[in-house]
Amino acid sequence: MMETTQKALTFKLGNDLEINRLGYGAMQLTGFGVYGEVDDRENAKKVLQEAVNAGVNFIDTAEAYGPQFNETLIADALYPYATGVVVATKGGFNRTGPNQWIPNGDPEFIRQNIEGSLQRLKVDTIDLWQLHRIDPKVPVEETLAPVFEAVKAGKIKHVGLSEVTIAQIEQAEKVLPIVSVQNLYNLSKRQWENVLDYTTQRGMAFIPWFPLASGPDSMADKINNIAAKHNATTAQIALAWLLKRSPNILLIPGTKSVGHLNENLKATEIELSEEEFEQLSK
Ligand SMILES: NC(=O)c1ccc[n+]([C@@H]2O[C@H](COP(=O)([O-])OP(=O)(O)OC[C@H]3O[C@@H](n4cnc5c(N)ncnc54)[C@H](OP(=O)(O)O)[C@@H]3O)[C@@H](O)[C@H]2O)c1
Repeated sequence: MMETTQKALTFKLGNDLEINRLGYGAMQLTGFGVYGEVDDRENAKKVLQEAVNAGVNFIDTAEAYGPQFNETLIADALYPYATGVVVATKGGFNRTGPNQWIPNGDPEFIRQNIEGSLQRLKVDTIDLWQLHRIDPKVPVEETLAPVFEAVKAGKIKHVGLSEVTIAQIEQAEKVLPIVSVQNLYNLSKRQWENVLDYTTQRGMAFIPWFPLASGPDSMADKINNIAAKHNATTAQIALAWLLKRSPNILLIPGTKSVGHLNENLKATEIELSEEEFEQLSK
């Protein structure tokens, strides 16, 4: 039986920043293929503002979303940031067109990413900077050298990784402390269970990307039955399962719709029973 905890609704990122576990992922607020400007910019700003008004204090973005348009949009919508709002960004991907993602761990590129993010987000310090991908062509120690410099200079507070193995986390930690890991994880994609458990034991945040995929089609009946019992939607059950899975999970569901945003935020109100949790976990 998988061990679960009763829901804590906040988590201390880096033992320091108090984060509401239901946050927002801003990647959808871009053009087709996560490239270019979002079609309806006013609506996108409204979604971001509504999220913060509703209590979201963790927003995930990246230099690569747009690229750059997404960070600028966030500052346009939310600057000056309300007290306690953490905008987490990432660097380390070249974008050459819609749906084109090329890891780039060249130290100079990383340095430019960090300087650009500071300017676009209009902050003196990035609360959480994440290495979007480890570039297999560049030793991670070299990629992280400018990140460590930025931490020492007060330009970055905390550092995280994305789509990494335990061995890669340990390798990165030889350069600097790691406070979070952002890997693909949801009801249907469970290949990173070992990394999730590792982060839980180490007190790091685990930030599942693509959190709303609510299980393979074979699970539809089971999920629908549980959703009906809670008078909830499939999306809410997928998020409630993640909240119960581990107390260090921070959620960043993405949406372009204020309606879906508010629906997703209500997932914190759902208490899955142990039995329901076990059924969903199979
Ligand atoms: N580290 C990485 O490599 C990586 C990779 C991918 C994503 N991410 C991060 O993870 C975040 C979330 O990922 P994601 O946006 O790809 O996937 P997601 O959050 O799992 O799903 C987003 C999709 O679900 C729909 N949706 C949202 N709420 C819904 C609801 N209540 N009912 C029905 N549909 C709903 C959205 O459409 P509508 O707009 O119509 O609501 C959108 O198409 C991103 O914003 C990004 O910050 C990180």
